[in-house]
Amino acid sequence: MFRFNVLFLIAYAVVFVTATSPTNSYAPGRVACPQNKLTRSALEGISPNEQSYMNQRYQNAKSEMINFLKNANMTGFDIDTFMETSNPTIGLAFSGGGYRAQLAGAGELSALDSRSVQPSVLGGILQSSSYIVGLSGGSWLVGSFVSNDMMTIDQILAQNSLWDLENSLFAYNGLWILSNAAMWANIDIQVKMKMLTGSTVSVTDVYGRALSYQLLSNFNNQGGSFCWSDITTRPSFQKYEMPYPILAALGREPDTSVVNYNSTVFELTPYEVGSWDPSLRSFMNTKYMGSYVDNGVASGKCLNGFDNAGFFMGTSSSLFNAIPLQLDNLNFPTFTKNLINTLAINPYERLNVDIAHYNPNPFYNSKNPNGKIANSKTLYLADGGEDGQNIPLLPLLHRNVSVIFAFDNSADEDGWPDGISMVSTYQRQFSPQGDGIAFPYVPDEYTFRNLNLTSKPTFFGCDAKNLSSLTDNIYDVPLIIYTANRPFTYFSNTSTFKLKYSNTERAGMINNGYNVASRLNGELDDEWAACVGCAIIRREQEKQGIEQTEQCKRCFENYCWDGTIYKGEPLGDNFSEDGLTVSANDFNSNNIGGINDGAIDLI
Ligand SMILES: *[C@@H]1O[C@H](CO)[C@@H](O)[C@H](O)[C@H]1NC(C)=O
Ligand SMILES: *[C@@H]1O[C@H](CO)[C@@H](O)[C@H](O)[C@H]1NC(C)=O
Ligand SMILES: *[C@@H]1O[C@H](CO)[C@@H](O)[C@H](O)[C@H]1NC(C)=O
Ligand SMILES: *[C@@H]1O[C@H](CO)[C@@H](O)[C@H](O)[C@H]1NC(C)=O
Ligand SMILES: *[C@@H]1O[C@H](CO)[C@@H](O)[C@H](O)[C@H]1NC(C)=O
Ligand SMILES: *[C@@H]1O[C@H](CO)[C@@H](O)[C@H](O)[C@H]1NC(C)=O
Ligand SMILES: *[C@@H]1O[C@H](CO)[C@@H](O)[C@H](O)[C@H]1NC(C)=O
Repeated sequence: MFRFNVLFLIAYAVVFVTATSPTNSYAPGRVACPQNKLTRSALEGISPNEQSYMNQRYQNAKSEMINFLKNANMTGFDIDTFMETSNPTIGLAFSGGGYRAQLAGAGELSALDSRSVQPSVLGGILQSSSYIVGLSGGSWLVGSFVSNDMMTIDQILAQNSLWDLENSLFAYNGLWILSNAAMWANIDIQVKMKMLTGSTVSVTDVYGRALSYQLLSNFNNQGGSFCWSDITTRPSFQKYEMPYPILAALGREPDTSVVNYNSTVFELTPYEVGSWDPSLRSFMNTKYMGSYVDNGVASGKCLNGFDNAGFFMGTSSSLFNAIPLQLDNLNFPTFTKNLINTLAINPYERLNVDIAHYNPNPFYNSKNPNGKIANSKTLYLADGGEDGQNIPLLPLLHRNVSVIFAFDNSADEDGWPDGISMVSTYQRQFSPQGDGIAFPYVPDEYTFRNLNLTSKPTFFGCDAKNLSSLTDNIYDVPLIIYTANRPFTYFSNTSTFKLKYSNTERAGMINNGYNVASRLNGELDDEWAACVGCAIIRREQEKQGIEQTEQCKRCFENYCWDGTIYKGEPLGDNFSEDGLTVSANDFNSNNIGGINDGAIDLI
């Protein structure tokens, strides 16, 4: 097996992007500071840059949405008349869960993409979306997808270097020991240079660079100088074709733990990094991360190049920082080895290995937040899923989209989701950190499974009027199209820490995700696209007091959770077309490939 085939590199266009890292490398470089403050209060709403992007983006999204609705076979509904007075918005959310989440999510994404080689009945939703959000494994999907200028999933796979998961990150070139040594030596130098130019480094730097060999492999030096703020220079962003991308992470101080009630949810966008939560309520200019800032005012020279895209994806997925610690047989170069050894030996560090250090803290001395974050010299960020909210819903709730596609590829029971991530976000609204947020009612996990809410897509918050005890602004609460991982053509409940996928396994995972999102490309319901259309337009219809069509009423009967709580016997663990069953005849290990691929963990 040739991992380093020069001909391939030439044949498949390598993308070179002019980088804004002033050093043209991983180390940030000094630049003059801008005149204005680098932070701002979240109370001002979304950033002016995002707003002006969205003003343009929405025009494209809306015309694509009209196309989608027209092709969806909706009956008894005049799309043109309705859309003249309505502006429905769509947000996409991809959960965490390691490579399982990345790959299942990729299949779900490709089912929404009108450019896919086999466009599904939902093709065009991606093009109609305003936002795309990812967390942890989902951040690998979203981050690499947008960094690579929205290259289709088909192209990514054909491209032959991106998403090469045949070997784990830690022996990326397989048995090619010299190539592995060269990779680690390269990473070692880059991280050391970042430290020598005055920034604090942590294991997230090492891990984020390694991750980039899979996620940004067609960039110069694996995206060593490609920044998250550079997304704004990608052609699809410049043409307003890209849903605005957001990665989620959590604030977590060393030696503390967080749950959904008390976490600070951070969003990492190309323009800003920060949080809406009462514990911070500030945003920092992404491009100037790493600069010394005191209450929003920069002192001395500023830095650019700190917001490396791989580092950001590593931050959102920092749970995986623990992996290099488990591998003592690797011949890491000295600097990296020392970095990792401190972590491996020192019990305090070891406990906090999943924390990315952002030093200096951009929110230092900030007048806005009450409490710890403003007092700390370092900002500590951890994996976005650590508080149980494994689907990154909050950034979309703050943006009042009409509908959220919530793709849940969590491993809750037997490696399948049980809805706990939805429950976590639901519960959070009743805590102080949930101030200003409303999320539709959801049932408990037992009900999620046994009412078949994880076996087929389910709509939550179907009736805005029923949300009035949660908020006064009922029409700002999105309807959620919840879609959980389940088997159709592949046993896609692989372990979160499975770090190697053969190309066959990878294709199996992606294909299954496509089938989950598209309902076997409409085979299970020839009105699936129309029903999704009904969900998209629902809030705008309610606002205007427009009655649903007969078809949409039928769809809502079929896909909305009706408030029932399940208290009966468990239905079983096997999946039929629509639900859980004890029968071994349907979609289970008797007849679905991949069952034996699931549990190969490296750790
Ligand atoms: C709409 O109906 C036509 C004719 O039955 C069918 O071929 C097509 O696949 C349907 N489109 C969608 C998106 O379901
Ligand atoms: C968050 O709440 C959990 C559970 O009550 C508690 O154990 C933890 O210490 C709290 N974390 C912080 C940072 O307050
Ligand atoms: C979302 O709605 C709330 C009211 O529910 C409003 O205060 C806020 O400004 C809105 N945000 C955006 C981005 O439209
Ligand atoms: C996948 O799910 C099946 C049941 O649906 C279970 O038997 C199997 O152990 C699960 N695999 C993993 C890796 O969790
Ligand atoms: C409607 O609201 C009630 C609370 O008022 C809640 O218990 C119920 O679950 C909601 N129904 C749905 C379908 O969301
Ligand atoms: C859930 O799915 C099972 C198996 O298909 C079915 O027997 C059961 O009636 C379904 N439950 C509901 C509430 O639809
Ligand atoms: C599920 O299917 C397997 C075969 O794949 C079978 O052995 C098992 O008994 C079935 N029932 C339950 C409850 O999982």
